[in-house]
Amino acid sequence: RPAQDARPGRPAISVVAHRGASEEAPEHTLAAYRRAIEDGADALECDVRLTADGHLVCVHDRRVNRTSNGRGAVSALELADLATLDFGSWKDEAAYGDEAPDRQHEDPERTSVLTLERLLELVADADRRVELAIETKHPTRWAGQVEERLVELLGRFGHTEPAVHADQISPVRVMSFSARSLHRIRTAAPGIPVVYLMQFLTPRYRDGRLPDGVGIAGPGIRILRSHPDYVAKAHRAGHQVHVWTVNDAADVELCQELGVDAVITNRPKQVRMQLGLG
Ligand code: G3P
Ligand code: CA
Repeated sequence: RPAQDARPGRPAISVVAHRGASEEAPEHTLAAYRRAIEDGADALECDVRLTADGHLVCVHDRRVNRTSNGRGAVSALELADLATLDFGSWKDEAAYGDEAPDRQHEDPERTSVLTLERLLELVADADRRVELAIETKHPTRWAGQVEERLVELLGRFGHTEPAVHADQISPVRVMSFSARSLHRIRTAAPGIPVVYLMQFLTPRYRDGRLPDGVGIAGPGIRILRSHPDYVAKAHRAGHQVHVWTVNDAADVELCQELGVDAVITNRPKQVRMQLGLG
């Protein structure tokens, strides 16, 4: 990467926009991702779920209730149903209450459901390299269909091709709390890097090892607060460390001190500034 942070001799920490620049714009909307690119994010994080008619959409929760004006599980709704919903106004309502502006017709990029396909197009059209970190959500319900559809879609965008040069790093990676989901991705598309997300540090992985075939550790910031030596252990085991969700200045500082490889944050602009990258 061209930019360097304040630590001479070390590569810059990669700043990953969590659900887009989700502090500034409604999470998982095209507006949030455009803003993240403008704000200089190195990568975009998104959660994916499968609709009833087999489309991968960027939605965090199992249900659409929190982030839209609709109700029900994503898996029970078709893409056409989701397309009728407003996925943006909840954010303004939270910020402004009754004074919230009506932006639904004003800016569809701020209110429409986002498909993974559209997000891949955005990244492909960016005028600089922007990476994508895709998280498979609760993949067990679909017994492999999420991964199958994901690999097929990534293949259409050329992301499953083997790297031409050994030092070429894929712009797309897949993350999951489910080792089984990552295994399915590795089996179907061995060239795609995978990240094992961890909420807790279980004894099995405390020494920095990861499930077979996984190259990148994805600990929550709480793990680093209680086990700061984890980063060095994972590095010694040959793994990068990508930490979520790092929003507070003190946590950014901790990540910088420990030498993590990437921070996943709702506020890419502020974090880049704190790291001396903005
Ligand atoms: O980037 C990983 C992080 O997003 C995992 O937590 O709940 O925000 O998907 P969650
Ligand atoms: Ca996520």
